[in-house]
Amino acid sequence: MTELKNDLFLRACLRQDVERTPVWMMRQAGRYLAEYRATRLRAGGFLNLCRSPELCSEVTLQPIDILGADAAILFSDILVVPEAMGMELTFGAGEGPKFPDPITCRADVEKLPVLTDPTRELGYVMDAVSMIRRDLQGRVPLIGFAGSPWTLATYMVEGGGSKNFSKVKAMMFNEPETMHLLLEKLADSVAAYLNGQIASGAQAVQIFDTWGGILTTRDYKEFSLQYMQRIVEQLTRENDGRRVPVILYSKGGMGWLEAMADTGCDVLGLDWSIDIDVAKARVGDRVALQGNMDPTMLYAKPERIRAEVKDILARFGHGNGHVFNLGHGITPDVPPEHAIEFFKAVREESVRYHG
Ligand code: CP3
Repeated sequence: MTELKNDLFLRACLRQDVERTPVWMMRQAGRYLAEYRATRLRAGGFLNLCRSPELCSEVTLQPIDILGADAAILFSDILVVPEAMGMELTFGAGEGPKFPDPITCRADVEKLPVLTDPTRELGYVMDAVSMIRRDLQGRVPLIGFAGSPWTLATYMVEGGGSKNFSKVKAMMFNEPETMHLLLEKLADSVAAYLNGQIASGAQAVQIFDTWGGILTTRDYKEFSLQYMQRIVEQLTRENDGRRVPVILYSKGGMGWLEAMADTGCDVLGLDWSIDIDVAKARVGDRVALQGNMDPTMLYAKPERIRAEVKDILARFGHGNGHVFNLGHGITPDVPPEHAIEFFKAVREESVRYHG
């Protein structure tokens, strides 16, 4: 095993001492980078890019070189899981994801298989993970990921992105048993998939619950959190003799941080709607915190970005357990120089809070 040269991210996830606050960014390999757009063009589209382990590795490493990110995140998409379960998936140019044949009834759910053998069912992702590990040569750790069962279910039932979530909510209210069967199948598939990523070399994993925040507190616990807990309980928590931290990110879920911490995860991903000092006071003695700059701050001029970074660092203050990130993914029209300045500001301004 190649020795890990920069393990700041893994140490911060476990609330151990660090010399400075590590930083990475959701969607750090994405359209705001000309280098990413060039590779996607060579691949002939987004899904082809996801299916090419060589090109996945290339784009995963771009933000490590360009931004100096302290962690790499596997380049893929959460929706490859329903695709591997047999649902046709398309991404039109300039459009979001589409499932042309969405889940509409109990029989559709009963037909879905549970994934148990990721090397066979999602072999191209497993190959990407091992290739990225090889190409990283121990520069920074590699984060694997998956969507939460609830978030995957929203796309599978709506057939794509949605404004009102009318179909998935109607199914949840009218046919809760059908919804629970779907979520169970997804939870067990995602657990097998994440364990496959860990076996292939992922050194941490993040569960993206992008749509948990559209639920009431009761429904969040019953339909989203319960199934993330079911995943966390099944995960292999060690790799290369080190603990594999689990990061839980529910966008819009800041009212439920205590319950999220109860799942046994190591890190909570924060969106930008909460001040990090408030989150730290609530759960900082139990889990590390990841976040949480407003992604639109990257449209501001570099001085303003740096001031925001300083404010978030000051709010977290001294002490361990902070991984700097945005509160959600970087948007495609951010000038890359602004992202570079954001990473530089975190590296420079965070030193005073450590050691
Ligand atoms: O963070 C990273 O750099 C890793 C790569 C990553 C992608 N998608 C690449 C991607 C990750 C972690 C995801 C997760 C994902 N995918 C989520 C959860 C995270 C979140 O953002 O809330 C969701 C909801 C999806 C589903 C998805 N994929 C949507 C709704 C879209 C279209 C919206 C958009 O941004 O265009 C995608 C496409 C997608 N996934 C792109 C990338 C880089 C853009 C596609 C392109 O290059 O044309």
